[in-house]
Amino acid sequence: MYSTVKMLHSYWAYFVLLILIVAVANAIIGFASGKKFVSKDLRISLFALIFTHLQLLIGLILYFASPFGMDMISNRGMGGMSSAERLLALEHPFVGILAIILITIGWSKHKKQETDKGAFGKIALFYGLGLLLVLSRLPWSQWLGL
Ligand code: HEM
Repeated sequence: MYSTVKMLHSYWAYFVLLILIVAVANAIIGFASGKKFVSKDLRISLFALIFTHLQLLIGLILYFASPFGMDMISNRGMGGMSSAERLLALEHPFVGILAIILITIGWSKHKKQETDKGAFGKIALFYGLGLLLVLSRLPWSQWLGL
């Protein structure tokens, strides 16, 4: 169970990062060039939302299945972890949740915009911040085996 969920979370992360980068780049280009917000833009933003939500779901399961999630916090306490352990058990999951909240806010705000520029702007800002947060707290070396 643990290794399957971990593998799923690990591989799904490539798609999540890819679609988030595409959605943010698309929104920045749309914002800067004054394009119309068409159904292609809606689909890209919606896919990014769905992919990140699925990652949240897999991440939550992993948090309780992994020895580096909830277990680590209950066994060691907040202060008893090394910085690598704190990244896995605390910083990555919680900053990840925060990022997904921002992305969800961006999605719902873009729908209320009256202009195309406004819609692109909300996606660019909130998805962009979410992406930066995710990137800042990924367990890079464990993931890529560096
Ligand atoms: C967009 C959001 C996220 C991305 C892109 C992402 C990506 C990753 C990656 C690449 C790893 C390393 C996997 C490996 O070493 O093979 C990882 C580990 C982990 N993630 Fe996430 N994650 C996200 C959100 C979350 C959330 C929201 C949670 C929990 C609530 C979570 C829980 C975990 C845990 C517990 C591990 C450590 C697993 C272990 O080594 O046993 N992740 N994540």
